Amino acid sequence: MAIAAQAFFSFAQAADAARGKQLYESRCIGCHSMDENRTGPAHRGVFGRKAGSAKGYDYSPALRRSKVVWREKNLDLWLANPEGLIPGQKMGFTVPEAKDRADLIQYLREQTRK
Ligand code: HEC
Repeated sequence: MAIAAQAFFSFAQAADAARGKQLYESRCIGCHSMDENRTGPAHRGVFGRKAGSAKGYDYSPALRRSKVVWREKNLDLWLANPEGLIPGQKMGFTVPEAKDRADLIQYLREQTRK
């Protein structure tokens, strides 16, 4: 029930990229940036990209081997529970709220070029 209600909520609300940017800057920037590999891989162009393919980043074998492609569904599953989507991965961070995930994904989707 709780999961169904959450899914409905994320579809019912329009995703807000501006809010996604704020969330990104408060929660993700400690490990990620758009254009540099840090603790986590660079994110520019991540939407639509195969998992584990940022140039020069030292991924876990689990991510490198996975066949996941980063679109809405997989990004949502990843942010909710990275280990649930790709066991053996090394991102120790989750985004519990569906609306937060939807906004973050909308923001990532728009970061295609500088
Ligand atoms: C504590 C550090 C940390 C935080 C905070 C963090 N991440 Fe990550 N993230 C990582 C690491 C490390 C990886 C690489 C995982 C691997 O190789 O298994 C990763 C990988 C990813 C990937 C896969 C990218 C690819 O190229 O395949 C996405 C998407 C992602 N993170 C999104 C986010 C978002 C969005 C946030 C903020 C809500 C966030 N992360 C917060 C450490 C973090």
